[in-house]
Amino acid sequence: MVKTQHLSSRNSGPLRGQLRAPSDKSISHRSLILGTSCVGETRISNLLEAEDIMATARAMQALGGQIDQTAKCEWTVRGVGTGGLSTPASDLDFGNSGTGVRLCMGLVASHNMTVRFTGDSSLSGRPMGRILTPLADIGATVLDSDDGRLPVTLKGARDPMPISYTLPVASAQVKSAVLLAGLNTPGIMTVIEPVPTRDHTERMLEFFGAEVKIEPDNGGRRIQLTGQPELNPGHIIVPADPSSAAFPMVAALITPGSDVVLSDVMLNPTRTGLIMTLREMGGDITIVNEREAGGETIGDLKIKASALKGVDVPANRAPSMIDEYPILCVAAACAAGQTRMAGLGELRVKESDRLAAMAAGLKACGVGHLEGEDNLIVTGGPVPGGATVKTHMDHRIAMAFLILGLASENPVTIDDGSMIATSFPAFVEQMNALGANIGQQAN
Ligand code: S3P
Repeated sequence: MVKTQHLSSRNSGPLRGQLRAPSDKSISHRSLILGTSCVGETRISNLLEAEDIMATARAMQALGGQIDQTAKCEWTVRGVGTGGLSTPASDLDFGNSGTGVRLCMGLVASHNMTVRFTGDSSLSGRPMGRILTPLADIGATVLDSDDGRLPVTLKGARDPMPISYTLPVASAQVKSAVLLAGLNTPGIMTVIEPVPTRDHTERMLEFFGAEVKIEPDNGGRRIQLTGQPELNPGHIIVPADPSSAAFPMVAALITPGSDVVLSDVMLNPTRTGLIMTLREMGGDITIVNEREAGGETIGDLKIKASALKGVDVPANRAPSMIDEYPILCVAAACAAGQTRMAGLGELRVKESDRLAAMAAGLKACGVGHLEGEDNLIVTGGPVPGGATVKTHMDHRIAMAFLILGLASENPVTIDDGSMIATSFPAFVEQMNALGANIGQQAN
């Protein structure tokens, strides 16, 4: 694995070959958390062995789960059953992972125990109030927190109460935190989401035997979980992460002559907004070998270099591609005309303020753009590059600009590649195996 902080990418020849993107981060977190809530042993194949997931694995271990690696990417989780968590001996440190900490706070909130949650400086700047508000309604108490930021000391409810919670922001993390709190709460926990968000928690709860009722609700969904189920262990096979596959996908589209196959990609409709958008832009993306595995649709994607054109990306598509805007900006920078993206407010509270970080990086690379409060317009054309981009401890900003460098006139350098390990540890090696030219700072 390349450990260098400064990485550069430069104009590359055609990308050719096959790549299996790392396993899905959302499903990997949930398999460890829900595996710990089962009675007995869950097997996980293709677990994402990246830093975010390892933080969740350590946390589940500290809460009483027995988590073991049996072979590369093969793990077992011996669960403690619903309500069976034990108080951890020390703080739970989630590093860079917003999903890990928010889902885990939800799980803990309905247990009569006090836990201190910490994270790195990026995670400590992100809002936790969106989770803490519904968890307080359920009966948990925040004993200590700096304005709804980490570190947070949370005292779980002794007598948790089911609530009906309408999400004020389209967030699968908030939805999942409330549902996970519902596991050890008697009665029915209800979450209403005005816009559908990724549904892996609901699917996996059902897979493990919980009673989950999902109904349409004014264009969104009403999800009801019956509390205190006995969850039965199973075998989870984690597919490739569409949010990570997005990087080689766009790389192949913008690098002339490329012809790449991305295997095993999860095609859950709550995650495929980028594929839809890239196709509208003229991207040659074919799905083959579509199949069902572990409750999810997966397929292989054939990608050929394409002449892209700018499009309008509507606000209501944002939840289905929320992590993909950095790499969409790269596609837009290489497309003819303008790409207008709306409904991007949530990008301001990701691993970095992604809207500001992308705007600053595009400016440094000579790409025309206009940044609004919650929207962005990118004007495509030849990309000068030749800049060093600040990544603000954000893996997706880092990878996006390394991909831009593959199609720009001059190399693009990023100030810090270390965070790439949170989701895509072998990014440089796997991209270079396709023919990309990414390495230590160019001279
Ligand atoms: C995730 C939900 C999204 C996404 C994150 C993973 C999840 O966050 O950005 O990378 O696994 O539930 P929000 O729920 O805050 O939109």
